[in-house]
Amino acid sequence: VSAPAGAALAVRNARLVTCDTGAGEGPLGVVEAGALLAVGGVITWVGRDRDLRLPHDAVELDAGLRAVLPGLVDPHTHLVFAGDRSGEFAARMRGQAYAAGGIATTVKATREASDAELSRLAEERLARFCGYGVTTVEAKTGYGLTTRDELRLLRVAAGLEGVVPTLMAAHVVPPEHREAPDAFVDLVCQEMIPAAEGAQFCDVWCEPEGAFSVAQSRRVLDAGRAAGFALKVHADQLSHGGGARLAAEVGAVSADHLEHATEADADALARAGTVAVLMPGASMMTGQPFAPARMLIERGVRVALSTDCNPGTSYSENLQLQVALGCVALRMTPEEALLAVTRQAAAAVGREDRCGSLRPGLAADAVILESRREVDLAYHYGVNLARTVIREGRVVVG
Ligand code: NIG
Ligand code: FE
Repeated sequence: VSAPAGAALAVRNARLVTCDTGAGEGPLGVVEAGALLAVGGVITWVGRDRDLRLPHDAVELDAGLRAVLPGLVDPHTHLVFAGDRSGEFAARMRGQAYAAGGIATTVKATREASDAELSRLAEERLARFCGYGVTTVEAKTGYGLTTRDELRLLRVAAGLEGVVPTLMAAHVVPPEHREAPDAFVDLVCQEMIPAAEGAQFCDVWCEPEGAFSVAQSRRVLDAGRAAGFALKVHADQLSHGGGARLAAEVGAVSADHLEHATEADADALARAGTVAVLMPGASMMTGQPFAPARMLIERGVRVALSTDCNPGTSYSENLQLQVALGCVALRMTPEEALLAVTRQAAAAVGREDRCGSLRPGLAADAVILESRREVDLAYHYGVNLARTVIREGRVVVG
């Protein structure tokens, strides 16, 4: 079933997991025997099926009492890249440690790829995300690292439907600037950021050993803010490098990774209202410690989950698997983990007023699961439970 543009779509007979506390039962706002109406790609009504007033031209979709969630949101990916790092992965499995240096392999392959090739690869990954029920994906640049290549990656990202584009020109110092890293930071601040049309966020990898110091990162974030971008920080991933504190200080929308964050960092993030984006898949695949999710939550930080989809630390488009890892590796409750890929994830990309819950006025993005129990996203792990995916009121999968 595919609703023609402008027509109404009704999802009926559903266990609606609205992720809108107050709209239904419990922390996930569940409406049993619920229904959802979308007109022109926007949710116009949510409630009990028996109260639905169906427009005469509506296309009806019977969910068969299955769980229906907001389209999932992945708030942190490095979607646009070329090349392959499977050899580096295999070496790691033989005992080598993860190091930021591997990024240069992807930078080389990405610079050599054409725009068309980069678009094709990103579209393939985005289609895989969509197959898992993910309808909004943040996508960073960061494998170009010249003005020309960063802007190329940004154009590719910005041209994709459902993508939130982020400029991350300060990912690592590229090989040609190794002798003078501060000159590269100058280039990022003075040339790349001011030209980053179409980006929503500016991000930096704050990691004194391997990427950027706190002082360098602060310069990048100040330039990002001056150019009108909202801010994100790759923080405290490989060491306790000061990234989380910096993210709080500059009022970043999110601080991401946080494997080495402390209680004082958590307090600063909570005070600043900065969302923590955690990526258990990256910890798992690199042998890094898991982020202290419980501690962050208990100190009042909003926690989102992400794949971190990238060729180095976490090559996966399966956000559902992160829900399972969020529970078993980060010790989040199933409800916390589900909110972490919906409402909290939408907050982490500054789009809570657009996606991440099933609420009138938001985009009609939804996923009908194979199961009647949303907890199966964690419990029945490693398989794809998305049966039907709806984007802006149109069935795009299933
Ligand atoms: O989020 N932390 C920095 N960047 C990526 C890894 C990039 C790579 O290894 O290619 C991350 O884990
Ligand atoms: Fe990342």
